[in-house]
Amino acid sequence: MTEPSITIRPETADDAAAIERLHERTFGPGRLAKTAYRIREGAEHRLELSFTAHIGTLMIGSVRLTAVRIGEAKALLLGPLTVEPPFRARGIGRALITRALAEAKSKGHHLVVLVGDEPYYGKSGFVRVPAGRAVMPGPVDPARILVCELGEGAFANVAGPIRPEPDAQ
Ligand SMILES: CC(C)(COP(=O)(O)OP(=O)(O)OC[C@H]1O[C@@H](n2cnc3c(N)ncnc32)[C@H](O)[C@@H]1OP(=O)(O)O)[C@@H](O)C(=O)NCCC(=O)NCCS
Repeated sequence: MTEPSITIRPETADDAAAIERLHERTFGPGRLAKTAYRIREGAEHRLELSFTAHIGTLMIGSVRLTAVRIGEAKALLLGPLTVEPPFRARGIGRALITRALAEAKSKGHHLVVLVGDEPYYGKSGFVRVPAGRAVMPGPVDPARILVCELGEGAFANVAGPIRPEPDAQ
């Protein structure tokens, strides 16, 4: 039997409720206390840089990007990234990341930061931020703060607190 094809498209306002349910199922109510959520409370994610994965009419995954600053440097915070459990380990998470990074780069962004597992995100070009160089506004294991340069040397000379950039265009 052939597998139905998976499509990835920019998030729209109509996806909000389904994504919220996906996050609730995946991360539970504890997600709202996570440090990364403090940033997301301070700035809406960017719809044109956020993507959803679909099989037919079923939404099976989502990744969001939010505008932030690291010190004075403009950057994007990646997350949450979620794929519905029956559809995991088929490359959908990676495809969502690849699409979001490509779109961010094409729109002139230079840096993407996230809080997550290096063994997973390392495959998409993320590396660990040296301890203390980029600081989240709350408790986070420093080894989980990862950065991806969209242009060579984009993270050179960047340091400071990671904070939301509410009105970024
Ligand atoms: C993390 C997640 C998005 C990955 O989605 P996915 O579509 O399964 O990812 P991919 O198919 O691109 O990659 C799967 C591979 O990554 C591995 N992987 C998944 N999560 C991992 C992690 N946290 N650390 C290391 N490897 C991981 C899988 O074992 C699999 O390995 P394989 O290719 O050797 O079989 C998905 O597992 C998920 O929704 N998890 C719960 C939410 C979460 O933890 N999100 C990330 C933090 S915001």
